[in-house]
This record gives sequence, C-alpha cells and structure tokens, in this order.
Amino acid sequence: MPSKAIPWLKVLVHGLCLLPFMKLVMMYRAGTLVALADPVQFLTHFTGDWALWILLLDLAITPVRRLSPKLAWLIRLRRMVGLYSFFYATLHLLVYVFLFSGYDVPSAMDGLKAGHWGEPFHQLALVWPSMWDDVLKRRFIQVGLLAWVLLLALAVTSPQRVLRWMGGKRWQKLHRMVYVAAFAAVVHFWWLVKAGVREPWKVTAVLAVLLLARLLWWARQRRKKAAPVFRTA
Ligand code: HEM
Repeated sequence: MPSKAIPWLKVLVHGLCLLPFMKLVMMYRAGTLVALADPVQFLTHFTGDWALWILLLDLAITPVRRLSPKLAWLIRLRRMVGLYSFFYATLHLLVYVFLFSGYDVPSAMDGLKAGHWGEPFHQLALVWPSMWDDVLKRRFIQVGLLAWVLLLALAVTSPQRVLRWMGGKRWQKLHRMVYVAAFAAVVHFWWLVKAGVREPWKVTAVLAVLLLARLLWWARQRRKKAAPVFRTA
C-alpha cells in the first residue's frame, strides 16, 4: 500500500467506525429510538455489541498483518480502531450511568436551565448508592468495569509521546492487556445473559481464534530463538 493512500484509508476507517454512532443519531432525530419498546435496553446492547466487535477487529489486525510483509501498513490503523472500541465502551458506560441506573435526566436538565449547576451532581449522588450496590452484587458489572478500566489505560497511553516516555518494552507489556480486556468483555457478556442463552458464542469463537493465533506466533518465535545458528566457514 503506497503511503500516500494511508490518510485516505484512515478517513475510510473513521467513516466506517462512526457508522453505528451515526445510526443512533439518525434514529434519535427521526424519533424511531424513543418509539422502541425499550430504548435504554436497545442503547445498552447496541453500544456494548459495537465496543466488543470493534475490540475484536483491533485484535485481528496484528495476526492478519503477520500473514504477509505486504500487509505491514495495517498496523497504522490499530491505534485508531482501538480508540473507537474505547469510544463505544464509554458510550455504553454513560448509557448505564445516565439511563440504565435510574438517573433523573429531566430533573438534571431542568436544574441546569434554571441555573442550578449542581443539579446534575445532586442527581448523580441520588443514584450512586444503587449503582455502587450493583457493582458490589453483580459480577458481570465488576468484570465489565475491569474491561473498561483496561481500555481506558490503553487509550490514555496510546499516543506516540507516551510510548516514548514509557519505553517500548513497558508500553508493549501494558498494551498486551488488550487481550485481558477482550477476555473480560466476553466473560461480561456470558455472565449477563440468562442461563441457556448461547448468544455470546460468536464473540467467544472469534476471541479463541485470535488468542490461538497469538499463541502459535509466540511458540514459533521461541522455536526460532532456540534453534542453533549454523555458520558456514
Ligand atoms: C464500564 C462498565 C460496564 C458496565 C457498567 C456495563 C453494563 C452493562 C449492562 C447493564 C448490560 C445489559 C445487561 C442486561 O441487558 O441485563 C451490558 C451488556 C453488554 N455489555 Fe456491558 N458494561 C460495561 C462494560 C462493557 C465493556 C467494556 C464492553 C465491551 C468492550 C461491554 C460489552 C457488553 C455487551 C457485548 C453486552 C451485551 C449486548 C447484547 O446483549 O447484545 N460492556 N453491559
């Protein structure tokens, strides 16, 4: 891929990753979002699904790139794709905090309109005990939170200058946590569905293939390192 094409490719990837978000905006403007039987449920599932699928896409970039040296340019898209997964995961968290948990959005808005800047925080303080209770009682929330915190750490440390500041090795070690984040997100999905529901199997199968590819690569690298080097005189 000629390097002149990379900026265009990045624009294309931005456009594709923003499509789900645009769909939400359009549904909201057309009134079809609020007309749904359970808009909050829809938003929670929609943002959770996209956060996870984009995360898996991000994980797929490295093994696909390794298939051929001609695909080396793919690595230049990885940071961007990873940040989009974090973007949807954060929307998912915001939907949980402000819509799913019983936060009184109309009262917060009315307060702001009346010039009471503290009202949104007051409303947050009212739902905080039940949210905290959720975190303590529901293991699927705990593991989801773990996945989000890991994605946050990866997003914050993703700029080149942070990489230089941390040093390549330390940065790489931290960024391997992306596998733990994906694993936690898949566990989150299994733990929230009702017993007998097999819906998360697709993401589980994709993650298993990606982890296997990583393992095979690692084993190959180890074998290469261990192999004796024959020199010709
Ligand atoms: C920040 C912490 C998180 C919280 C509080 C949270 C909360 C939730 C809730 C309440 C649901 C819906 C449960 C239900 O329907 O009963 C859900 C579903 C889901 N979440 Fe999360 N989540 C979090 C993080 C994440 C992350 C980081 C990901 C992915 C990277 C994710 C992916 C999903 C998926 C795939 C679903 C199911 C969607 C479906 O059923 O189609 N969640 N989450």
